[in-house]
Amino acid sequence: MTTIIDGKAIAEAVRSEVADGVAAFAEAHGRTPGLVGIQVGDDPASEIYQRMKQEDAEACGMVARRIQLPAGTSQAELDQLLDELDADAGVDGILVQLPVPEPLEEPQIAAKIAAVKDVDGFSPGNVGRLLRGEPAHVPCTPAGVMRLLSEADVALEGTRAVVIGRSVIVGKPMALLLIAANATVTVAHSRTKDLPALAAEADVLVVAAGRAEMVRGDWVKEGATVIDVGTNRTDDGLKGDVAFDEASERAGAITPVPGGVGPMTRAYLLVNTLAAARRRVGDDS
Ligand code: GUN
Repeated sequence: MTTIIDGKAIAEAVRSEVADGVAAFAEAHGRTPGLVGIQVGDDPASEIYQRMKQEDAEACGMVARRIQLPAGTSQAELDQLLDELDADAGVDGILVQLPVPEPLEEPQIAAKIAAVKDVDGFSPGNVGRLLRGEPAHVPCTPAGVMRLLSEADVALEGTRAVVIGRSVIVGKPMALLLIAANATVTVAHSRTKDLPALAAEADVLVVAAGRAEMVRGDWVKEGATVIDVGTNRTDDGLKGDVAFDEASERAGAITPVPGGVGPMTRAYLLVNTLAAARRRVGDDS
């Protein structure tokens, strides 16, 4: 029997935990955690993501603000805003929706956001802390995947994990988290030779390749856990990076798309924002 890991239901439980945490924080500290999302330009997909993040934050009792800047905003202008938000005691979490239009560049932005308010976990400070195994804001998608694995009772210690994808947002932090959980991890990417054979060795296969249904059924080891991070818009609707029907015939457990990793990414932004608020006031509840 293949277990379909229900990310939607697990994310709902996470949101409910966060809402309880927000209420307790407000009671203890007399204010509610605050999240600010910044969008530069008018990319329609970014606008939808930003709106969803604001709604999510408000639904669990946080103060959420969206700031829209025009395309062509300079790094100096954005830096000034980030400095103001850094100094604003009511702001716990800051995120700049990616991708950003020119002349802005993501590395400069990631380096500018104060690590304690960097709820995306993309800043060098947080990336370095994660690498060192120190407390950090962990990027939302890999953090959400770890929770899915835990809720699905997937034992990681001593297992062979393969992560397909090496981005700063997903692949690399995913590998670090799996290493920290005592898995033996291989990171594969577009230049990896004989990817199907490598994937077929994985007890835990995490796919963040960005190519619709790239992972076929025969890439999956019998009984493996398959986590599909892909969200590819195709003429046939939203597709993951894994050919679900084929892969689920061999997997022991698998996430669907939609309804797997996506809702967890959204929920973990809320977890990180509450954690940021707590960390800023030295509340380790
Ligand atoms: N664009 C796509 N994914 C993300 C994300 O996780 N955070 C931000 N800030 N932008 C994104």
